[in-house]
Amino acid sequence: MKIGRITVSDRASAGVYTDQSGPEIEKVLREFLGQDAVFVSLIVPDEVPLISAALKKFADEAKCDMVITTGGTGIAARDVTPEATRPVLEKELPGFGEAMRMQSLARVKTAILSRALAGTRGTTLIVNLPGKPAAVRECLEILAPAIREGLAHLRGENPHEKK
Ligand code: MTE
Repeated sequence: MKIGRITVSDRASAGVYTDQSGPEIEKVLREFLGQDAVFVSLIVPDEVPLISAALKKFADEAKCDMVITTGGTGIAARDVTPEATRPVLEKELPGFGEAMRMQSLARVKTAILSRALAGTRGTTLIVNLPGKPAAVRECLEILAPAIREGLAHLRGENPHEKK
């Protein structure tokens, strides 16, 4: 299992602060998907062409099974991760964003400020997450069962198929 993680942040990419959300993705996914997952990582500023290029690089060239972004999903002037993700997706998975927002809302009333998207590109699952480490964990916990099954479908396995 190869997973790409992309931290989208002007400040983290400039070295102004230490990226905590990217390593949190790795920590949480190792808990959910197993310790043998291989991670590749990038930190990019909040610029549409750079985010889209990073997503394509990890999906098309690095052949990642999944690419997770963190940050830039809100409505501040520099938040453009959904705008960079949408054109890269071939099949959108609206339920991922809906579930993250709906289930997070019960605990965090600001959860609906995130415009996070998800979908597929070829056989790669792409998921946007909000930028805070706590949000990364909360959202991945909500998505974990669908991520596991979605990855199996993209590998050509159908866990429900009758043998
Ligand atoms: N979702 C969860 N589960 N937990 C959170 O703390 N923070 C919200 C929201 N989603 C949050 C959350 C806040 S405050 C914002 S502004 C938006 O995500 C967008 O965050 P981003 O721009 O860092 O992606």
